[in-house]
Amino acid sequence: MKNPFLDSRNQFPAFQNTHDGKPLVYLDGPAGTQVPTRVIDAISNYYRTMNANHGGCFPTSRASDAMFSAAQQAAADLFGTNDPEEVYFGANMTTLTFALSRALSQEWKPGDRILVSHLDHDANYSTWVRAAQDRGVIVDEIEINTTDCTLDLEDFDRKLTSETKLVAFCGASNAVGTRTPITSLTRLAQSRGAMVFIDAVHLAPHALMDVQQWGADFVACSAYKFFGPHIGIVWGKKSHLQRLRPYKVRPCAETLPDRWMTGTQNFACIAGVMAAIDYLADLSIGSTRREKLQHTFERIEAYERILSAYLIKSLQTVPDIRIYGITDLDRMADRVPTLSFTHPKFSPIQIAEYLGSQGICVWHGNYYALPLTERLHVEPAGMVRVGLLHYNLVEEVDQLVDVLKRLTQNR
Ligand SMILES: Cc1ncc(COP(=O)(O)O)c(C=O)c1O
Repeated sequence: MKNPFLDSRNQFPAFQNTHDGKPLVYLDGPAGTQVPTRVIDAISNYYRTMNANHGGCFPTSRASDAMFSAAQQAAADLFGTNDPEEVYFGANMTTLTFALSRALSQEWKPGDRILVSHLDHDANYSTWVRAAQDRGVIVDEIEINTTDCTLDLEDFDRKLTSETKLVAFCGASNAVGTRTPITSLTRLAQSRGAMVFIDAVHLAPHALMDVQQWGADFVACSAYKFFGPHIGIVWGKKSHLQRLRPYKVRPCAETLPDRWMTGTQNFACIAGVMAAIDYLADLSIGSTRREKLQHTFERIEAYERILSAYLIKSLQTVPDIRIYGITDLDRMADRVPTLSFTHPKFSPIQIAEYLGSQGICVWHGNYYALPLTERLHVEPAGMVRVGLLHYNLVEEVDQLVDVLKRLTQNR
């Protein structure tokens, strides 16, 4: 199977990196993707040509502010909103979500409830649980079906009460790749009076976010998971962003998005975020950036379904391996090409170290998806995670499987 994005690999300097004379195999995308040259150039160009703080009356500050507005528009195009004021940046998704949970929870009262999920990264769990604890709010947890690592939708329905103020769940699991039915869950939650926060960090490199269709109240993502630098981004409904009282310093403007962006932003990396979004857009043709992104992600989803199936089938040829997540090949649309596995004879760290010694980059442990790994009873060792992206090749999957067979069959 030829990768339809093969040419785009040339744009990533990291693919020149070698280990023992062979190219490194990057299967660690869920922990952070590689970045194309234009992202690196945008960051260094910022420092070279417009490095200045926000709001000055001189040319570099004006250039920096213009860049910021353009990046905000690019992020709005990625989220699928027509209003760039609904988008703001910050250090990373975790920090932004802690800040949001602190502000949002001011509207909760003792005895209210929130609903979080066992499919999630801890950044979409502890952030809300801590806020709930501070306000005397009851925390309910959506269970998962442990056989295929999907959300238990009946449990969701059961636990969603008229007291539920907020439901927080992910668009896709960073550990096992399961996608969630965002739009229908959002509608159900809102019909019972709850707000919805979507963690789209893991979904964002695999499917186009669409805040209008989803209808959620807040969506968060992180640019380093979609070929950009380490920056978090939040989209929120304007009425909420205007009504809520963020924890901010007094001189910081009350206008959007300023009131949600504490302290000085990482402007250079925000320039890099715009370049990452434009990298994705320019993989396809279209008359607007959003249209180009739509075409790109249609193609990414189609190729990644093939990659998912290939990865699962190939790993299943390694004796005794246990794969976590959806493995039914007819259900590849319900997952992204991220999965975890364990082996009865080798610990996750042993497997990851051996693969690493062979130039294959994977992750081991719980990757902060602790609500999930606890439910799967794989703590404390965790699992081994393999994550593919549009730039990965079936040949890289073959290499992974060859090395795994060498490890597990020769000892
Ligand atoms: C699904 C998911 N949510 C949230 C996070 C946290 O994102 P950040 O590192 O930007 O805080 C991650 C990071 O791995 C993630 O994979």
